[in-house]
Order: sequence, then C-alpha cells, then structure tokens
Amino acid sequence: MPLTTEQRYKPYEDWTEEEIKKIKENAAKSPWHTHFHIEPPYGLLNDPNGFSFFKGKWQLFYQYFPFGAAHGLKSWVQTESTDLVHFEETGTVLTPNTPLDSHGMYSGSAMQFGDKLFIFYTGNVRDENWMRQTYQNGVLLDSDGNWEKVPQTLIAQPEDVTDHFRDPQIFFHEGEYYTIIGAQDIQKKGIVKLYKAQNSDYCNWTFVGDLDFQNDLTSYMIECPNLVFVDKQPVLLYCPQGMDKTIYPYDNIYPNMYKIADSFDTENAALINPSEIHNLDYGFEAYATQGFNAPDGRALTVSWLGLPDISYPTDRFDYQGVLSLVKELTIKDGKLYQYPVEAITSLRKDQGSPLTDKSKTNNIYELELDIAADTQAEFLLFSDEDGHGLKILADTQNGLITVDRSQAGEQYAIEFGQTRSCTIEPGALKFNIFIDRSVFEIFINKGEKVFSGRVFPHETQSGITIKSGSISGTYYELDYGRKTN
Ligand code: FRU
Repeated sequence: MPLTTEQRYKPYEDWTEEEIKKIKENAAKSPWHTHFHIEPPYGLLNDPNGFSFFKGKWQLFYQYFPFGAAHGLKSWVQTESTDLVHFEETGTVLTPNTPLDSHGMYSGSAMQFGDKLFIFYTGNVRDENWMRQTYQNGVLLDSDGNWEKVPQTLIAQPEDVTDHFRDPQIFFHEGEYYTIIGAQDIQKKGIVKLYKAQNSDYCNWTFVGDLDFQNDLTSYMIECPNLVFVDKQPVLLYCPQGMDKTIYPYDNIYPNMYKIADSFDTENAALINPSEIHNLDYGFEAYATQGFNAPDGRALTVSWLGLPDISYPTDRFDYQGVLSLVKELTIKDGKLYQYPVEAITSLRKDQGSPLTDKSKTNNIYELELDIAADTQAEFLLFSDEDGHGLKILADTQNGLITVDRSQAGEQYAIEFGQTRSCTIEPGALKFNIFIDRSVFEIFINKGEKVFSGRVFPHETQSGITIKSGSISGTYYELDYGRKTN
C-alpha cells in the first residue's frame, strides 16, 4: 500500500517502534540487497549529496526517507570513506527540524571551510495550504559529528522562478566560491542560476546571472546541476526534466545529461563554446549525478541508480534506491570518460579466472571482457537454465551496443522500454562489468560509454552464458570485506 501524504510527512518522532520494527523486518526479507554499493537497509535513498573531502575522509551523504519506499520527509544520511570504495555510515542524520526546512532537507553539496564542513542544501517548506517555499540553507558539521544549522536562509527564492528552485552546488574556481542552483522560471522552463560568494563568505551570496550554456529551454525544470572541471574544461552535469526528445532521444523518464565547454566566463555567467548535449549514462537508471573536484583536482562523480516517479520491485519490501560506484571523469580526444576509481580493483578477491559459462554465481563479480572487432557478440548475465537473463549485444562491426533486460527478473518501468543502446566506433571493445546482486554497471572502453541499471533477478538467475561472438576475458569474484549482508 503506498503511503498517504500524511504518512509521508508525519514527524519522525511520531513513528512508533512497532511500526519501525515492521518496516525493518520486511526489508530484511528482500533477496536483492546489494553487497558493495551504498544502499539503506530500509527506507528510500535518492540523490547523492554533499560529496566532499573533510578531515582526511571522503564524505558522501544521501537523501533519505526512512519509513518505506516513498518520497516523504527527507533527511541527509552521512557515509565516510578513505578509499572511495568502502563507505561506512556514521549514524549522523541531518533532519528537517526548522521552519526553513520543515518539509524536507533536499539535495545539495558540501565544502570544507576552516575546521567545519559547510553543507549547502535546499529547505523544502509547505504552508497550511500545501503551498511550497524553497530556501537555500546551510549546516556546519564538525569533525565529531556535531552539526549546527545556519539560522538564516542564505539564498531566498528569486521572483523570476517558481517554487522549483533547489539543489545548490558549491564549487571553487580561480580563487572564488560559486554556487549553481537548478530552477524552473516563471515561463515554466528549466534554467540554472549562478551565484558568487562575497569575500569567500559562504553566508553571503550575490546573484551573477542565469547560466548561459546554450540551454535549449525545452525542459520544465533542471534538477541537480553540477559544474566540475576536468583538466580545466568545465563539464555541466544536469537533469533537464521534460526535455524535448527531438533535442536528444532519451528513454528514461527523466534524463541526466551533460555538456563540455572550453571555459567558464564567471562575469557573464557563461560556458564558452559548450558542446552539444550528451547522455551521461545509456542505461536504465542513473540520475541526480553529483560531481565535485577533489582537493587533488580529480573530478569525481556518483549517481543515484534510481529515478523519480518509478515503482521498483523492492517497494514491497519497504526500501528503494542505491548509489552507483564512485567514478572519475577524464576527457580524451574531446570525449568524456567515466570510470570507477582505481581502488575498485581492491574488491577483486584474487587474480581472476578465464571467462567461461557459469550456471551459478553469487551475482557479485566483475567481468573484464575483450570483444574482437568484426564480431556479433551476445552474452547473458543473471542467466538461468531457460536461456533468460540480462542480454548484452555488442556488434563491433557496425558499432552498436544493446542491453536488454526484458528477460531478466521482475519487470518494472516497462513503459519506458526494456532495452537501451548506444553507438560506438566499430572495432574491438573492452567491457568492465560490475554486478552486485541487483545492480549492473557496464563500462565500455574504460568509460567511453556507460550503461547502469537495476535488475531484480528471479532466484534461478545467477549464471553467465556466452551465446555467440568472439569474446574472451576474466571473471573476478568481488568481496567488500567489512560488510556482512
Ligand atoms: C532529484 C530531487 C532533487 C531534490 C531531491 C528531493 O531527485 O528531486 O531535485 O532536491 O530529489 O529528495
């Protein structure tokens, strides 16, 4: 039974222990919990938030509603890591508890200032008539996990936008701090607003302008805009909801797109010479991707492997949503590459074994495959004895890759199609595929193209079946080590 609005916005303290116990017990019954991805044991995870580096540790928060698979009163849950692969929840949960965020601490970003981590987030507020106001607010977190909200709002809703104004991303560029915020303007078009911190003061922001990135202005809202720099080139990652499919023929309910530009003109709020629009991920779900430039300059990203307004098979177990692996962005020959950080290989249990058909795995592994040129390769993951599974087709003669999940596990979101594909230069291909019980992340040519998504396999679906084509490679069992589920 979907939760009512009243249940979704019920104060956290009004949920009884009995109710919470039931939710936890139900979630524990799911066969699909991931092993090495960030996922809540119960409740709903959506956007990655506050991805940053603070006091010697990587910080990665996520949007969270604890009481079932629903978008309700949102908090931030903190996780920390020393290698960007193993993340541990700290128990710190930032909750909506002020008049500036009474109906949810929505998405945002973080950056260290002095000995505190400054968190910039959207306060979602509804009045008695359920009219929304949004505020861009701050929280300061110290290294002991104590947090204090900045008492005043830092950026109020401007007059030329609707109540859809959210997801501040703070970043540093050539000696100054900036923030971009996603918005819907009063003509109901998705735009991105740019602000600059006065004298590097995170409490004092001035509006610079609406970001000019040759926005096609066909979306009705831009969520989660992020600007990162890869070898000095700005890359804008954003989610233009409702974007016209003649601009780009995406399949998912909402797209996560990007543009690469030559430079960032801070005075005129413009990306100079922005590229055409590209799909960040060709799979079934990667959304609200958050990026930041690490202190060492690397551009790191992480995505929500889930989408708004979609029901998932895990909903009946009172949980939903998972984060992707952390990826590093690079640009080669003008093309954006996304690939998990180097430490991901630490999950490999051993040197691996040559790829062969397998009737059964634990659905926790990595495959590194070489697909020859001029071949029509076809193989199945999550395969069963009936020849069903997640079908991957790589036509290296014509340069076409297709992922078909129509025969893999419980079906959902079928109105958005059960296959995804992309084109690529004809010729030999390398695939690195990470499988984690109900997650797949497929990186082609070390991240030139990426397909991410969920599969909720039937109990019998855990094999690997090579159907045709010239494929060779290595199978690595993966082990996260510390996590027991
Ligand atoms: C994107 C989003 C954000 C918002 C958050 C609320 O998935 O809608 O725009 O801040 O989720 O949870």
